Amino acid sequence: MSADVTGGVAAGGRTRSPLRAGVVGLGWAGQQHMDAYALRPDVELVAIAGLEDEPRVRLGELYGLPGSGLFRGYDEMIAQADLDVISVATPTALHAPVALAALAAGVHVLSEKPLAEDAERGAAMVEAARSADRVLDVSFNHRRRGDVKALKKLVDDGALGEIYYAKAGWLRRSGIPGLGTWFTRKALAGGGPLMDIGVHMLDMALHLMGEPAAQAVSASTYAKFGPRGRGGSVDRPTVAPGADGTVPFEVEDLSTAFVRLSGGATLLLEASWASYIKADELYVVLYGSEGGAVLGTPGVWNQSRLDVLTEMHGVPAELFPVLGPDGRHGEAVDDFLAKVLAPDWSGFHGEDALTRALVVDAAYRSAEEQREIRLD
Ligand SMILES: NC(=O)c1ccc[n+]([C@@H]2O[C@H](COP(=O)([O-])OP(=O)(O)OC[C@H]3O[C@@H](n4cnc5c(N)ncnc54)[C@H](O)[C@@H]3O)[C@@H](O)[C@H]2O)c1
Repeated sequence: MSADVTGGVAAGGRTRSPLRAGVVGLGWAGQQHMDAYALRPDVELVAIAGLEDEPRVRLGELYGLPGSGLFRGYDEMIAQADLDVISVATPTALHAPVALAALAAGVHVLSEKPLAEDAERGAAMVEAARSADRVLDVSFNHRRRGDVKALKKLVDDGALGEIYYAKAGWLRRSGIPGLGTWFTRKALAGGGPLMDIGVHMLDMALHLMGEPAAQAVSASTYAKFGPRGRGGSVDRPTVAPGADGTVPFEVEDLSTAFVRLSGGATLLLEASWASYIKADELYVVLYGSEGGAVLGTPGVWNQSRLDVLTEMHGVPAELFPVLGPDGRHGEAVDDFLAKVLAPDWSGFHGEDALTRALVVDAAYRSAEEQREIRLD
């Protein structure tokens, strides 16, 4: 999508140029959005919000923000900063409150993944975006990876034929983020690895398969590491134990789900923060009528490899496409801004992200009730 901007105002006269952007959340995710806005000549990063004093001041200096652009709470920022666009990079249970406040003020919203802590809250966000007629988008940065983009082009050009089965997973050996922080509290995170990293793999698989509708989900979840204080991540340390010697762990640390899709296709999804495996792994495997594909990486970024299994002139063949650069958050922000600058915002109200939230919800329900949950 290309922006049609003339004399500082987009076609239809609906957007200012430069767009005034704000970011809520000063953690790793929020900083990816700040970086992305700062690189755009047609966007001015005018405000950031977050509870921590030191990073707020440091990031304010880094991005050249005046003191009047630094806020503690998101509500003051939305009321005072005169924003056009806002990125939400807070603990997951705050995505909906921030998005609803921003949409009510006429501000376009780019939320971090997942959409919300459950599908009901996610649906309320989509509804609010529709009635405000503003863009609601979710930052699924992993679908902008070079390997995913190459595979998507092959799939869209028919190289694999009909994709009838897929496997997607992200498994960590020891990577519970901040054991005892908001990440491992049900009310704040909504869930464990399925909600956190599994949602990226679900998004990637559905995107690659051409957005088939999920019809039924059967899932199981396990919590074998977190409750014993094991499996913590080096990047985000475990919090100090409370008086009883434990840290809060109210979510799963491994989930597996089997998803029935429209047209008879199926998807097997795995996500774990901690498990006794040899090494961390991120993968997508597609099974098509004309070819297959294995996208796999031992780390998360930079080491990916895409194998395409096919036939050439009747001879079984294996191809290794040359991969372009990873798009990451910058591309997710660019795609969001392209939607904001488009002449029509219908269809940009977070509908795709809600389909992911409905599958995640159904998976948790299935695990709890030990039965298949139908979505159709
Ligand atoms: N797409 C990705 O690759 C990716 C990676 C990491 C995290 N995330 C997502 O980004 C979000 C944030 O994750 P993180 O790791 O940066 O978290 P974090 O805990 O490091 O940062 C959260 C920030 O939210 C702020 N916050 C909390 N309450 C607030 C309020 N009332 N007003 C203003 N700010 C408030 C905190 O002060 C903090 O700065 C989560 O939804 C997470 O799932 C996405």
